[in-house]
Amino acid sequence: MKMKKKIDSIASTYSTRYFSSPIPKYKMPEGEMPPDAAYQLIHDELNLDGRVPLNLASFVTTWMEPQANKLIAENINKNFIDHDEYLQSAEIERRCISMLAGLYNSPNAKASPGASTLGSSEAIMLALLAHKFRWKERMKKKGKSASKPNIVMGADVHTVWDKFARYFDVEPRIIPMKKGKYTINAADVAKLVDENTICVGAILCTTFSGQMDEIEKINGFLIKLKKKKGWDIPMHVDAASGGFIAPFLHPSMKWDFRLERVKSINVSGHKFGLVYPGLGWVIFREKADLPDELVFYVNYLGGEMPTFTLNFSKGSSTVIAQYYNLIRLGKSGYKKIMQSIMQNTHYLAKKLHASGRFSLLCTPIFPVVALKLAAGRKYSVFDVSQKLRERGWIVPAYSLPAGAQEEKILRIVIKENFGRDMADLLCADVEAACDLLEGKASKEKPVHKRKGKHHIC
Ligand SMILES: Cc1ncc(COP(=O)(O)O)c(C=O)c1O
Repeated sequence: MKMKKKIDSIASTYSTRYFSSPIPKYKMPEGEMPPDAAYQLIHDELNLDGRVPLNLASFVTTWMEPQANKLIAENINKNFIDHDEYLQSAEIERRCISMLAGLYNSPNAKASPGASTLGSSEAIMLALLAHKFRWKERMKKKGKSASKPNIVMGADVHTVWDKFARYFDVEPRIIPMKKGKYTINAADVAKLVDENTICVGAILCTTFSGQMDEIEKINGFLIKLKKKKGWDIPMHVDAASGGFIAPFLHPSMKWDFRLERVKSINVSGHKFGLVYPGLGWVIFREKADLPDELVFYVNYLGGEMPTFTLNFSKGSSTVIAQYYNLIRLGKSGYKKIMQSIMQNTHYLAKKLHASGRFSLLCTPIFPVVALKLAAGRKYSVFDVSQKLRERGWIVPAYSLPAGAQEEKILRIVIKENFGRDMADLLCADVEAACDLLEGKASKEKPVHKRKGKHHIC
């Protein structure tokens, strides 16, 4: 390979062993290189990424059991959409949908339609499209115009909801947040719904603060509204994170298909479903909630199997990994893991609050610790986040959504890999960061001098 002097080339760490000249970064190289050399080059460069276990910003799973890894590797070359060739993978998807529909108390879980998706984002788009089509049908039946659809949701929704509204031409009617109120309730919804509302969106475990909207009360309001005005407005529950927690830890909490108006639910398999990135689920209450126009029927499984997705090809391995978790852990296994995650969440929240430097935005019911700096500090949550980054921790700082944007918070998502020891280490690093920002000498002790036992829970 010829010598390239420009900076848009890579001089690899071990270049003298593998390469006689730099490799272009943005142009395809003219020649080949040995597989070991390519591996080493990329492997080394990726060392610059953040450390996965210290990424407390993401809700996404970072660890699976070796047996799951084995199944993933064995199935990585299967294109999931080729149902004709990979009948059993399609059957496994169907079983997962049925198990999730059962978990969400569908009146007839085996008949509840659904789909695996690339994540909750695709699942939400699909569900909301279904509601848009159903609303159009209703308006057509009444002989009314279907030119001005709207969707009612809180400012606490994930960006994908705004994306849906823009991409699919639906007016977003957004309930603003305010200081101390970061979720929505029935009274908020009542102010914005009308006959053109395709759906009301509600969240179980919001991205910003880990709280939940008043789903049961919104359902009650929509039932009354239907009786009074004849408006048949459905709800979609975004259970991206909460959908694998609430059924195990809060079984009596009503947020799912036990509520009449809840017609569709999404959940991220790759969040607390405990599967690596690339998996979401959309589940409908019953067949009538999914308009036929959106569905392509295939009949090679012995019965009619509805499929609908926004993309076409995707890997099979995440769906198979979800099935592995569902049968391997069962309800009791998921419950134990979620209990442990919540114990660690409460432990961390209590400890950070006790430091006197932070106040909690809310008492966690899901594994999210959202913190505000106590009054009178001369530094910001952004400074704390930056300092923690120097120690490798990835803890995001941000302002809350529209209406509460003056409030700045730090958010820590607790996942299965975050044990009690890590909580102690993080707290020590937070203290050290604040000490430094306050101009005090750090009280932090080197790791080997820190007292305490290892806790496993
Ligand atoms: C409440 C909520 N909805 C939707 C999403 C998008 O999920 P995904 O990343 O699975 O597409 C997220 C992601 O964090 C979320 O928290």
